[in-house]
Amino acid sequence: GEGKFIVGGNWKCNGTTESIAQLISDLNAGTITKDLEVVCAPPFVYLAQTQASLGPPFEIAAQNVWTGAGGAYTGEISADMIKDLGINWTITGHSERRALCGESNEIVAEKTAYALSLGLKVIVCIGESLEERQNGSTLAVCCAQLKAVAEVVSDWSNIVIAYEPIWAIGTGVVATPEQAQETHAGIRKWLAAAVSPEVASKMRIQYGGSVNAGNCDVLAQQDDIDGFLVGGASLQGDSFITICNSAV
Ligand code: G3H
Repeated sequence: GEGKFIVGGNWKCNGTTESIAQLISDLNAGTITKDLEVVCAPPFVYLAQTQASLGPPFEIAAQNVWTGAGGAYTGEISADMIKDLGINWTITGHSERRALCGESNEIVAEKTAYALSLGLKVIVCIGESLEERQNGSTLAVCCAQLKAVAEVVSDWSNIVIAYEPIWAIGTGVVATPEQAQETHAGIRKWLAAAVSPEVASKMRIQYGGSVNAGNCDVLAQQDDIDGFLVGGASLQGDSFITICNSAV
């Protein structure tokens, strides 16, 4: 795509005050040699610690938000609170939340639309299961996930799409560059038809799923891969910096 390469580090439900201080120190000490955007997503309770110590070019994201404004939603965090902290990004629709927390395409779309309405930038995650890939419905699944977003969002300029095949997440089984490129191209083609050719050409589509320091370069070279969303390897400063420097 046309946009600036963008790498996300999704720390998921990992870390302690001490380990996060170490990770941040390693990231701050790293040398980013490329012009790219980098967004790190710590657990909510470590957002303030991360904000206080992680320096540029690193930006910060929430991993999830509630569907709307705050209120009687025990245990939830609203996008308003993220904005109030001065954080500009959130992830929505990670497959772990879809699978483990029952988030439907519609709920993910509602969360995305609400966060965008407050001016947040949103990394919307999509992706198919192994069974869906094997039965040939990869693009149908991804496009249905995006169609729910298209039904409630008109301005896509603050959206980044993260394509994360579930079978590749945390498994060590990375999609081949050809598999990732084919799906990214299919997603972009769908955007061109269902939203607009302009949105399609400007959209950054990240690949996520077992990205590491050893496989990032060849993936980054694919035409339709515009960045990564990294889980496990984002917890290691040196690996994450290497992945950032694979930007093309
Ligand atoms: O959000 C990140 C993805 O779930 C990828 O996780 O890099 O540990 O496979 P992973």
